[in-house]
Amino acid sequence: MEKEGQTLPVRRDGAFCYSIRLEEDFEKLSECVSELSVKGRRVCIVTDSHVGPLYADEVRRRLSEAFRTVTVYTIEAGEKYKTLDTVRGLYEHLILEHFDRKDMLAALGGGVIGDLTGFAAATYLRGIGFIQIPTTLLSQVDSSIGGKTGVDFDSYKNMVGAFHMPRLVYMNLSVLKTLPERQFTSGMAEILKHGLIKNAEYFQWLIDHRQEILERRMNALMPMILESCRIKRDVVEKDPTEQGERALLNFGHTIGHAVEKLKDFQMYHGECVAAGCAAAAYLSWKRGLLDEAAVLRICEALKSFSLPVKVSGIDPAQVLRTTKSDKKMDAGSIRFILLRQTGDAFVDQSVTEEELLDAINWITED
Ligand SMILES: NC(=O)c1ccc[n+]([C@@H]2O[C@H](COP(=O)([O-])OP(=O)(O)OC[C@H]3O[C@@H](n4cnc5c(N)ncnc54)[C@H](O)[C@@H]3O)[C@@H](O)[C@H]2O)c1
Ligand SMILES: [Zn+2]
Repeated sequence: MEKEGQTLPVRRDGAFCYSIRLEEDFEKLSECVSELSVKGRRVCIVTDSHVGPLYADEVRRRLSEAFRTVTVYTIEAGEKYKTLDTVRGLYEHLILEHFDRKDMLAALGGGVIGDLTGFAAATYLRGIGFIQIPTTLLSQVDSSIGGKTGVDFDSYKNMVGAFHMPRLVYMNLSVLKTLPERQFTSGMAEILKHGLIKNAEYFQWLIDHRQEILERRMNALMPMILESCRIKRDVVEKDPTEQGERALLNFGHTIGHAVEKLKDFQMYHGECVAAGCAAAAYLSWKRGLLDEAAVLRICEALKSFSLPVKVSGIDPAQVLRTTKSDKKMDAGSIRFILLRQTGDAFVDQSVTEEELLDAINWITED
């Protein structure tokens, strides 16, 4: 029997822009890509040193059915290679292989590969097409959707970038089986965040299906990733260039980013976001929005997925300073995301330093 995949269309300014395909294998890849009229064109698969050995051969074979030429460009795995230097190496490869404006890139990997490949595609010859083949939980439900691309510059994360929409997002959920445990857990923070900001029922569903999710069973992964992609899709459709609604996705990220920086990126992004979500939920309680039981439920849910809600070894005052210097500041006031209730987030610009410090204190321990 043929396995049922799922498709989510993404629209921009009311018109169809690209599809997100969720599959259990790479079988449909060439069929999906063929719909983009790529006959006679070249494609370069950009991947990293962990993902390439696992999946590049099969993806190359599938893409060869649709494209004239397929090359593979492999970079070292890790955020520290998400740089202009790496992009430069990729440009050189594309020039040597005579890539022209109708040729394409395919990002096979996590968010690092997706962001970097998207940026190279946005800028090579003033912009060529690219497809996303995300292989981490985070990249499947978050970074591959929405067209934000970029690289880090010196110690500044995502300092250089562009909005460039993919032509297709194709995810094979089976690749999550090889994802290291801590990466999977970290991705779960964004997924729980989706429930918290937009869909209380989904949040409860995640709690109820924890076991199957953690065992990475397909009957749990497929509906989960579909719903998270739908939430992310709906938010970016309403606000493609991050003027308003998209800010809701920053729930848990304002304090989370500060923690991430102060922990010198030793804690994973999702782990910091989890602590940030706990702090934002606490602040919402102190504002009289959530009740205490709801905050405790949120913390228990995060903990049940092995995510931290407390952070040790950081100075709350320093977290506050770092939070204030973060780019989420809007003309001097902090754009903080609060919860009216579980499943209903909003942007608030009136959070004071005292409130922030109180919330930071609540999530820090010795
Ligand atoms: N563009 C956006 O909207 C957006 C949103 C969120 C995050 N991001 C960016 O995403 C990046 C983080 O992405 P990430 O968490 O996917 O990290 P990542 O790309 O570094 O991947 C994490 C690790 O998992 C390995 N890996 C990937 N897939 C695997 C698989 N299936 N099996 C085994 N190993 C696998 C990678 O080689 C890497 O070592 C950051 O640079 C962040 O800035 C971008
Ligand atoms: Zn995030």
